[in-house]
Amino acid sequence: MNRQCDVDLTSFNTFGLCSRARDLVVFDDVAQLPALQAVVQQAGEVFVLGGGSNVVLAAQVEPLVVKVQSRGIHLLESRPDAYIVQAQAGEAWHDFVQHCLEQGWSGLENLALIPGTVGAAPVQNIGAYGVELEQRVHSVLAWNFKQARLMELPAAQCGFSYRDSRFKHDPAGTWLIVAVRFALPRPWAPVLDYPDLRQHSVLGGAVDAQAVFDAVCQIRRQKLPDPAVLGNAGSFFKNPVVPQAQRDALRAQWPGLVSYDVGQGLYKLAAGWLIDQCGWKGRRDGAVGVHERQALVLVNHGGGTAQDIERLAQAIRADVRRHFGVELEQEPVQVP
Ligand code: EPU
Repeated sequence: MNRQCDVDLTSFNTFGLCSRARDLVVFDDVAQLPALQAVVQQAGEVFVLGGGSNVVLAAQVEPLVVKVQSRGIHLLESRPDAYIVQAQAGEAWHDFVQHCLEQGWSGLENLALIPGTVGAAPVQNIGAYGVELEQRVHSVLAWNFKQARLMELPAAQCGFSYRDSRFKHDPAGTWLIVAVRFALPRPWAPVLDYPDLRQHSVLGGAVDAQAVFDAVCQIRRQKLPDPAVLGNAGSFFKNPVVPQAQRDALRAQWPGLVSYDVGQGLYKLAAGWLIDQCGWKGRRDGAVGVHERQALVLVNHGGGTAQDIERLAQAIRADVRRHFGVELEQEPVQVP
Protein backbone atom coordinates (compact mmCIF):
# COMPACT_ATOMS: atom_id res chain seq x y z
CA MET A 1 0.00 0.00 0.00
CA ASN A 2 1.30 3.36 -1.04
CA ARG A 3 0.90 6.07 1.64
CA GLN A 4 1.58 9.77 1.13
CA CYS A 5 1.29 13.02 3.10
CA ASP A 6 -0.10 16.37 1.92
CA VAL A 7 -1.48 15.21 -1.45
CA ASP A 8 -3.07 17.59 -3.97
CA LEU A 9 -6.61 16.30 -4.67
CA THR A 10 -7.50 18.92 -7.28
CA SER A 11 -7.15 16.45 -10.15
CA PHE A 12 -8.80 13.64 -8.10
CA ASN A 13 -12.23 15.32 -8.05
CA THR A 14 -14.20 16.02 -11.26
CA PHE A 15 -15.33 19.39 -9.85
CA GLY A 16 -11.64 20.35 -9.92
CA LEU A 17 -12.02 22.01 -6.51
CA CYS A 18 -8.75 23.07 -4.88
CA SER A 19 -8.22 20.54 -2.12
CA ARG A 20 -5.41 18.78 -0.25
CA ALA A 21 -5.36 15.57 1.76
CA ARG A 22 -3.32 15.49 4.96
CA ASP A 23 -2.80 11.74 4.63
CA LEU A 24 -3.65 9.40 1.72
CA VAL A 25 -3.31 5.68 1.16
CA VAL A 26 -3.85 3.87 -2.16
CA PHE A 27 -5.88 0.65 -1.99
CA ASP A 28 -5.60 -1.62 -5.04
CA ASP A 29 -5.83 -5.23 -3.85
CA VAL A 30 -8.14 -7.12 -1.46
CA ALA A 31 -5.06 -8.76 0.07
CA GLN A 32 -4.27 -5.32 1.57
CA LEU A 33 -7.50 -5.21 3.61
CA PRO A 34 -6.06 -6.39 6.97
CA ALA A 35 -3.14 -3.95 6.68
CA LEU A 36 -5.55 -1.18 5.67
CA GLN A 37 -7.69 -1.97 8.72
CA ALA A 38 -4.69 -1.35 10.96
CA VAL A 39 -3.85 1.94 9.23
CA VAL A 40 -7.45 3.15 9.47
CA GLN A 41 -7.73 2.16 13.13
CA GLN A 42 -4.64 4.19 13.90
CA ALA A 43 -5.83 7.20 11.83
CA GLY A 44 -9.33 7.31 13.34
CA GLU A 45 -11.43 9.07 10.70
CA VAL A 46 -11.45 7.81 7.12
CA PHE A 47 -12.85 8.99 3.80
CA VAL A 48 -13.05 6.68 0.77
CA LEU A 49 -12.39 8.33 -2.60
CA GLY A 50 -13.27 6.65 -5.90
CA GLY A 51 -13.37 8.68 -9.11
CA GLY A 52 -14.19 11.84 -7.11
CA SER A 53 -17.17 12.54 -9.37
CA ASN A 54 -19.82 13.01 -6.69
CA VAL A 55 -18.02 14.88 -3.94
CA VAL A 56 -17.52 18.44 -2.77
CA LEU A 57 -14.05 18.34 -1.22
CA ALA A 58 -13.05 20.81 1.49
CA ALA A 59 -9.86 22.81 0.89
CA GLN A 60 -8.14 20.64 3.51
CA VAL A 61 -9.43 17.07 3.92
CA GLU A 62 -8.60 16.01 7.47
CA PRO A 63 -9.66 12.31 7.55
CA LEU A 64 -7.30 9.69 6.10
CA VAL A 65 -8.20 9.41 2.40
CA VAL A 66 -8.36 5.88 0.99
CA LYS A 67 -7.98 6.14 -2.78
CA VAL A 68 -9.51 3.06 -4.42
CA GLN A 69 -7.71 1.79 -7.52
CA SER A 70 -8.40 -1.97 -7.57
CA ARG A 71 -9.10 -3.46 -11.02
CA GLY A 72 -10.65 -6.60 -12.50
CA ILE A 73 -13.87 -7.76 -14.19
CA HIS A 74 -15.07 -11.38 -14.13
CA LEU A 75 -18.11 -13.33 -15.25
CA LEU A 76 -18.98 -15.34 -12.13
CA GLU A 77 -21.98 -17.24 -13.45
CA SER A 78 -23.99 -17.58 -16.62
CA ARG A 79 -27.51 -18.31 -15.39
CA PRO A 80 -30.55 -18.75 -17.65
CA ASP A 81 -32.08 -15.57 -16.20
CA ALA A 82 -28.93 -13.43 -15.77
CA TYR A 83 -25.20 -12.98 -16.22
CA ILE A 84 -23.60 -12.47 -12.81
CA VAL A 85 -20.64 -10.16 -13.37
CA GLN A 86 -18.24 -8.91 -10.72
CA ALA A 87 -16.20 -5.73 -11.04
CA GLN A 88 -13.59 -4.41 -8.63
CA ALA A 89 -14.36 -1.02 -7.08
CA GLY A 90 -11.60 0.93 -8.80
CA GLU A 91 -12.77 0.15 -12.35
CA ALA A 92 -13.93 3.25 -14.25
CA TRP A 93 -17.72 3.02 -14.55
CA HIS A 94 -18.08 3.91 -18.21
CA ASP A 95 -15.26 1.58 -19.31
CA PHE A 96 -16.94 -1.21 -17.35
CA VAL A 97 -20.28 -0.56 -19.10
CA GLN A 98 -18.53 -0.64 -22.47
CA HIS A 99 -16.65 -3.85 -21.61
CA CYS A 100 -19.92 -5.57 -20.61
CA LEU A 101 -21.52 -4.55 -23.87
CA GLU A 102 -18.57 -5.96 -25.86
CA GLN A 103 -18.95 -9.28 -24.02
CA GLY A 104 -22.69 -9.39 -24.80
CA TRP A 105 -23.69 -8.73 -21.16
CA SER A 106 -26.28 -6.05 -21.76
CA GLY A 107 -28.40 -4.10 -19.28
CA LEU A 108 -26.15 -1.23 -18.20
CA GLU A 109 -26.26 0.74 -21.48
CA ASN A 110 -28.68 3.39 -20.12
CA LEU A 111 -26.01 4.22 -17.53
CA ALA A 112 -23.31 4.94 -20.12
CA LEU A 113 -20.95 7.90 -19.72
CA ILE A 114 -21.64 8.42 -16.01
CA PRO A 115 -18.34 9.59 -14.50
CA GLY A 116 -16.84 7.82 -11.48
CA THR A 117 -15.93 4.31 -10.44
CA VAL A 118 -17.79 1.02 -10.00
CA GLY A 119 -17.29 1.22 -6.22
CA ALA A 120 -18.85 4.67 -5.99
CA ALA A 121 -21.89 3.73 -8.09
CA PRO A 122 -23.88 2.05 -5.26
CA VAL A 123 -23.24 4.92 -2.82
CA GLN A 124 -25.54 7.31 -4.67
CA ASN A 125 -27.40 4.53 -6.52
CA ILE A 126 -26.53 6.11 -9.88
CA GLY A 127 -29.39 6.37 -12.32
CA ALA A 128 -30.13 7.76 -15.75
CA TYR A 129 -32.55 7.40 -18.65
CA GLY A 130 -34.95 5.05 -16.91
CA VAL A 131 -32.50 2.69 -15.18
CA GLU A 132 -31.20 2.85 -11.63
CA LEU A 133 -28.21 0.87 -10.43
CA GLU A 134 -30.26 -0.97 -7.78
CA GLN A 135 -32.19 -2.74 -10.58
CA ARG A 136 -28.94 -4.35 -11.76
CA VAL A 137 -27.09 -5.01 -8.49
CA HIS A 138 -26.86 -8.60 -7.28
CA SER A 139 -24.77 -7.76 -4.20
CA VAL A 140 -22.07 -5.43 -2.91
CA LEU A 141 -18.83 -6.75 -1.42
CA ALA A 142 -17.73 -4.34 1.26
CA TRP A 143 -15.18 -4.27 4.04
CA ASN A 144 -16.70 -3.23 7.35
CA PHE A 145 -14.09 -1.25 9.30
CA LYS A 146 -16.17 -1.43 12.52
CA GLN A 147 -16.21 -5.24 12.43
CA ALA A 148 -12.94 -5.74 10.55
CA ARG A 149 -14.44 -8.17 8.06
CA LEU A 150 -15.49 -8.50 4.43
CA MET A 151 -19.25 -8.82 3.91
CA GLU A 152 -21.47 -9.56 0.93
CA LEU A 153 -24.55 -7.34 1.11
CA PRO A 154 -27.41 -8.48 -1.15
CA ALA A 155 -29.07 -5.57 -3.01
CA ALA A 156 -32.02 -5.70 -0.58
CA GLN A 157 -29.68 -4.89 2.32
CA CYS A 158 -28.11 -1.85 0.64
CA GLY A 159 -30.98 0.54 1.49
CA PHE A 160 -31.26 1.74 -2.09
CA SER A 161 -33.64 4.54 -3.02
CA TYR A 162 -33.50 7.52 -5.40
CA ARG A 163 -29.82 8.72 -5.38
CA ASP A 164 -29.42 7.15 -1.95
CA SER A 165 -28.17 4.07 -0.10
CA ARG A 166 -27.07 2.94 3.35
CA PHE A 167 -23.50 3.80 2.32
CA LYS A 168 -24.47 7.50 2.54
CA HIS A 169 -26.10 7.13 5.96
CA ASP A 170 -24.24 4.52 8.00
CA PRO A 171 -21.67 6.22 10.24
CA ALA A 172 -18.83 7.75 8.21
CA GLY A 173 -15.92 5.36 7.89
CA THR A 174 -17.98 2.17 8.22
CA TRP A 175 -17.65 0.81 4.69
CA LEU A 176 -15.12 0.36 1.95
CA ILE A 177 -16.87 -1.01 -1.14
CA VAL A 178 -14.46 -3.56 -2.56
CA ALA A 179 -16.42 -4.95 -5.53
CA VAL A 180 -19.91 -4.98 -6.98
CA ARG A 181 -21.72 -8.02 -8.36
CA PHE A 182 -24.26 -7.30 -11.08
CA ALA A 183 -27.17 -9.42 -12.31
CA LEU A 184 -27.60 -8.50 -15.98
CA PRO A 185 -30.97 -9.77 -17.19
CA ARG A 186 -31.46 -12.50 -19.80
CA PRO A 187 -33.20 -12.15 -22.13
CA TRP A 188 -32.28 -8.50 -22.56
CA ALA A 189 -35.00 -5.93 -23.27
CA PRO A 190 -34.40 -2.25 -24.01
CA VAL A 191 -35.55 0.38 -21.50
CA LEU A 192 -36.79 3.30 -23.59
CA ASP A 193 -39.32 4.97 -21.28
CA TYR A 194 -37.37 8.19 -20.71
CA PRO A 195 -38.75 10.97 -22.99
CA ASP A 196 -35.30 11.96 -24.38
CA LEU A 197 -34.63 8.35 -25.39
CA ARG A 198 -38.08 7.68 -26.83
CA GLN A 199 -37.70 10.69 -29.09
CA HIS A 200 -34.18 9.80 -30.20
CA SER A 201 -33.88 9.33 -33.97
CA VAL A 202 -31.37 6.43 -33.75
CA LEU A 203 -33.92 4.33 -31.91
CA GLY A 204 -36.46 3.42 -34.56
CA GLY A 205 -37.51 -0.18 -35.28
CA ALA A 206 -35.50 -3.07 -33.82
CA VAL A 207 -33.09 -1.80 -31.22
CA ASP A 208 -30.02 -3.44 -29.74
CA ALA A 209 -28.05 -2.53 -26.61
CA GLN A 210 -25.32 -0.84 -28.63
CA ALA A 211 -27.87 1.54 -30.20
CA VAL A 212 -29.23 2.45 -26.75
CA PHE A 213 -25.66 3.00 -25.53
CA ASP A 214 -24.89 5.25 -28.52
CA ALA A 215 -28.10 7.24 -28.03
CA VAL A 216 -27.46 7.77 -24.30
CA CYS A 217 -23.88 8.91 -25.02
CA GLN A 218 -25.14 11.36 -27.63
CA ILE A 219 -27.84 12.82 -25.34
CA ARG A 220 -25.45 13.17 -22.40
CA ARG A 221 -22.79 14.85 -24.56
CA GLN A 222 -25.37 17.39 -25.74
CA LYS A 223 -26.70 18.23 -22.28
CA LEU A 224 -24.00 17.63 -19.71
CA PRO A 225 -20.56 19.20 -19.49
CA ASP A 226 -17.53 16.90 -19.81
CA PRO A 227 -15.71 17.11 -16.44
CA ALA A 228 -12.38 16.88 -18.29
CA VAL A 229 -13.24 20.21 -19.92
CA LEU A 230 -15.41 21.95 -17.30
CA GLY A 231 -15.33 20.86 -13.65
CA ASN A 232 -18.64 19.51 -12.32
CA ALA A 233 -20.20 16.74 -10.22
CA GLY A 234 -23.27 15.98 -12.35
CA SER A 235 -26.63 16.98 -10.91
CA PHE A 236 -25.92 19.09 -7.85
CA PHE A 237 -29.44 18.75 -6.39
CA LYS A 238 -31.87 15.85 -6.19
CA ASN A 239 -35.18 16.23 -7.95
CA PRO A 240 -37.49 17.02 -5.00
CA VAL A 241 -40.46 14.77 -4.28
CA VAL A 242 -43.69 16.50 -3.14
CA PRO A 243 -47.29 15.46 -2.35
CA GLN A 244 -49.83 15.71 -5.19
CA ALA A 245 -51.67 18.67 -3.55
CA GLN A 246 -48.47 20.74 -3.53
CA ARG A 247 -47.65 19.79 -7.12
CA ASP A 248 -51.21 20.68 -8.25
CA ALA A 249 -51.03 24.07 -6.53
CA LEU A 250 -47.66 24.77 -8.14
CA ARG A 251 -48.90 23.71 -11.55
CA ALA A 252 -51.93 26.00 -11.27
CA GLN A 253 -49.52 28.87 -10.86
CA TRP A 254 -46.80 27.60 -13.21
CA PRO A 255 -48.42 25.60 -16.05
CA GLY A 256 -45.01 24.67 -17.49
CA LEU A 257 -43.92 22.86 -14.30
CA VAL A 258 -42.18 19.55 -15.15
CA SER A 259 -43.21 16.71 -12.81
CA TYR A 260 -43.37 12.92 -12.83
CA ASP A 261 -45.81 10.67 -10.98
CA VAL A 262 -43.75 8.41 -8.68
CA GLY A 263 -46.73 6.66 -7.09
CA GLN A 264 -48.28 6.78 -3.61
CA GLY A 265 -49.65 10.27 -4.30
CA LEU A 266 -46.15 11.71 -4.74
CA TYR A 267 -44.61 13.67 -7.61
CA LYS A 268 -40.98 14.29 -8.51
CA LEU A 269 -40.31 17.85 -9.70
CA ALA A 270 -37.54 18.63 -12.20
CA ALA A 271 -35.17 20.70 -10.06
CA GLY A 272 -33.38 21.82 -13.25
CA TRP A 273 -36.62 23.44 -14.41
CA LEU A 274 -37.21 25.16 -11.05
CA ILE A 275 -33.66 26.59 -11.01
CA ASP A 276 -33.92 27.57 -14.67
CA GLN A 277 -37.16 29.51 -13.98
CA CYS A 278 -35.36 31.48 -11.28
CA GLY A 279 -32.98 32.69 -13.99
CA TRP A 280 -29.87 30.82 -12.84
CA LYS A 281 -28.95 29.00 -16.04
CA GLY A 282 -25.56 30.16 -17.31
CA ARG A 283 -25.00 32.56 -14.39
CA ARG A 284 -21.55 32.91 -12.90
CA ASP A 285 -20.32 33.85 -9.44
CA GLY A 286 -16.55 34.28 -9.55
CA ALA A 287 -14.86 30.96 -10.30
CA VAL A 288 -18.07 28.93 -10.15
CA GLY A 289 -21.45 29.03 -11.84
CA VAL A 290 -24.48 27.23 -13.28
CA HIS A 291 -24.09 25.28 -16.52
CA GLU A 292 -25.51 27.03 -19.57
CA ARG A 293 -27.42 23.99 -20.88
CA GLN A 294 -28.50 22.27 -17.64
CA ALA A 295 -29.38 24.37 -14.60
CA LEU A 296 -29.09 21.34 -12.29
CA VAL A 297 -25.32 21.19 -12.85
CA LEU A 298 -22.97 23.56 -11.01
CA VAL A 299 -19.61 24.12 -12.66
CA ASN A 300 -16.12 25.23 -11.67
CA HIS A 301 -14.59 27.50 -14.32
CA GLY A 302 -11.20 27.06 -12.63
CA GLY A 303 -9.76 27.78 -9.21
CA GLY A 304 -13.08 27.33 -7.34
CA THR A 305 -13.26 25.97 -3.80
CA ALA A 306 -15.88 24.13 -1.76
CA GLN A 307 -16.75 27.47 -0.13
CA ASP A 308 -17.51 29.04 -3.52
CA ILE A 309 -19.78 26.13 -4.41
CA GLU A 310 -21.54 26.27 -1.02
CA ARG A 311 -22.23 30.01 -1.40
CA LEU A 312 -23.68 29.51 -4.89
CA ALA A 313 -25.74 26.49 -3.82
CA GLN A 314 -27.19 28.42 -0.89
CA ALA A 315 -28.24 31.31 -3.10
CA ILE A 316 -29.95 28.92 -5.55
CA ARG A 317 -31.68 27.04 -2.74
CA ALA A 318 -32.97 30.30 -1.23
CA ASP A 319 -34.30 31.48 -4.59
CA VAL A 320 -36.14 28.22 -5.30
CA ARG A 321 -37.59 28.32 -1.77
CA ARG A 322 -38.78 31.90 -2.27
CA HIS A 323 -40.32 31.28 -5.72
CA PHE A 324 -41.80 27.81 -5.28
CA GLY A 325 -41.74 27.00 -1.55
CA VAL A 326 -39.69 23.89 -2.44
CA GLU A 327 -36.60 22.76 -0.54
CA LEU A 328 -33.68 21.47 -2.65
CA GLU A 329 -31.41 18.80 -1.27
CA GLN A 330 -27.73 18.58 -2.27
CA GLU A 331 -26.83 15.35 -4.05
CA PRO A 332 -23.00 15.06 -3.99
CA VAL A 333 -21.35 14.03 -0.73
CA GLN A 334 -19.89 16.93 1.27
CA VAL A 335 -16.43 16.04 2.57
CA PRO A 336 -15.40 17.88 5.72
N1 EPU B 1 -35.03 21.37 -17.51
C1 EPU B 1 -35.16 22.72 -17.73
N2 EPU B 1 -34.07 23.51 -17.59
C2 EPU B 1 -32.86 23.02 -17.22
C3 EPU B 1 -32.72 21.64 -16.98
C4 EPU B 1 -33.83 20.82 -17.14
O1 EPU B 1 -36.23 23.21 -18.07
O2 EPU B 1 -31.92 23.81 -17.10
C5 EPU B 1 -36.19 20.48 -17.72
C6 EPU B 1 -35.97 19.63 -18.97
O3 EPU B 1 -36.42 20.27 -20.13
C7 EPU B 1 -36.80 18.41 -18.68
C8 EPU B 1 -36.70 18.28 -17.17
O4 EPU B 1 -36.29 19.56 -16.67
O5 EPU B 1 -38.14 18.61 -19.03
C9 EPU B 1 -35.75 17.19 -16.70
O6 EPU B 1 -34.45 17.45 -17.22
P1 EPU B 1 -33.48 16.27 -17.71
O7 EPU B 1 -34.22 15.33 -18.57
O8 EPU B 1 -32.25 16.91 -18.23
O9 EPU B 1 -33.16 15.44 -16.41
P2 EPU B 1 -32.87 15.91 -14.94
O10 EPU B 1 -34.06 15.71 -14.08
O11 EPU B 1 -32.31 17.27 -14.98
C10 EPU B 1 -32.03 13.55 -14.12
C11 EPU B 1 -30.88 13.05 -13.30
C12 EPU B 1 -29.62 12.96 -14.15
C13 EPU B 1 -29.89 11.98 -15.28
C14 EPU B 1 -31.11 12.48 -16.09
C15 EPU B 1 -31.53 11.48 -17.12
C16 EPU B 1 -31.22 13.68 -10.98
C17 EPU B 1 -30.84 14.61 -9.87
N3 EPU B 1 -30.64 13.92 -12.16
O12 EPU B 1 -31.71 14.89 -14.52
O13 EPU B 1 -28.58 12.43 -13.35
O14 EPU B 1 -28.78 11.86 -16.14
O15 EPU B 1 -32.25 12.69 -15.20
O16 EPU B 1 -32.06 10.35 -16.50
O17 EPU B 1 -32.03 12.80 -10.78
C18 EPU B 1 -26.74 12.94 -11.92
O18 EPU B 1 -27.35 12.38 -11.02
O19 EPU B 1 -25.61 13.45 -11.73
C19 EPU B 1 -27.37 13.08 -13.23
C20 EPU B 1 -26.81 13.76 -14.22
